[in-house]
Amino acid sequence: MKLEEIKKSYYKELEGVANDGELNDLRIKYTGKSGLITDALKLIKDIEPSERKAYGESVNKLKVEIEDSLGAKHEEFVNKAIEAEVAGTKRVDLTVPLAMRTGSLHPITIVQKRIIDIFASMGFTVEDGNEVETEYNNFEAVNVPKDHPARDMQDTFWLDNGEVLKTQTSAGQNRIMRKYGAPLKAIFPGRCFRNEELDASHENTFFQLEGMMIDKNISISNLIYFMKNMLSQVFGKEMNVRLRPGFFPFTEPSFELDASCPFCGGKGCKTCKQSGWIELCPCGMIHPNVLRNGGIDPEEYQGFAFGLGFTRFAMMTFEIDDIRVLNSGKLKELTQAEIK
Ligand code: DAH
Repeated sequence: MKLEEIKKSYYKELEGVANDGELNDLRIKYTGKSGLITDALKLIKDIEPSERKAYGESVNKLKVEIEDSLGAKHEEFVNKAIEAEVAGTKRVDLTVPLAMRTGSLHPITIVQKRIIDIFASMGFTVEDGNEVETEYNNFEAVNVPKDHPARDMQDTFWLDNGEVLKTQTSAGQNRIMRKYGAPLKAIFPGRCFRNEELDASHENTFFQLEGMMIDKNISISNLIYFMKNMLSQVFGKEMNVRLRPGFFPFTEPSFELDASCPFCGGKGCKTCKQSGWIELCPCGMIHPNVLRNGGIDPEEYQGFAFGLGFTRFAMMTFEIDDIRVLNSGKLKELTQAEIK
């Protein structure tokens, strides 16, 4: 067979090759030991001596050309196989939601956000309190002088510089009055600290939410109105409140405000200890000394203040019966709030 014909027939056959196996057959047929190219080389002895060199070169050139094209075709098959494999592989869809816990807000945060939203909608400014306070703001400013027995109930952590980790959000009252003057409507949630023995209902770190309203002609009925409104919104139903007499150095008169039990509607249940009422928040009319310390004239202005213990409020809302859970990593209890 002439070289030209070998070349032609090779390319024709190459077109029909469908896979690596067939390609190998083709390789053997052309460049194998007894392949057509090898045969063509053997023919060299029959060629005119003067043309042998040129003939030999042509055969080798064709051999290299065929080998190169066999190699290229093989690569083509390999690439196709890889593409096919990739196309058949299961793709990972990164946008599919994973069946994984994504975390949730802390029960205290949930309650705090709810209450803040409600008071803000009633026109109250929301303020941040300090966690480290001066002894004056925490005690004297709110009418608790050095030797007052009320200090015993609020033993706390003292810093070397004489400041304290605040024992009550009431510690923010003086700053707020000095900042805004009268009239004012503000709430200030915050973390408080007391030197407590820990048990299911006592923690050394807990949250309160303090509120103050100061204006002309403020009376306890304003307090009742705002508390009733806030509670009814939190629990999504009309709530009743009642006042019992109490004592706090910073209010006169002082009260304990109870809410009708939101769980049994007042019939009596485990949460309200069968009484139908839940002790919710101490409150009262701001003591004239406290107003005066805040630079407000008690002859002209009056106000109410309350100190909602919202660690307790959160426990009640989410039926958590051990206060220590709130500062723990117990996810089972801490994330149940999100579920409800
Ligand atoms: N600060 C008080 C406490 O921690 C709670 C309190 C009582 C706050 C009466 C008030 C109030 O604003 O009027 O025990």
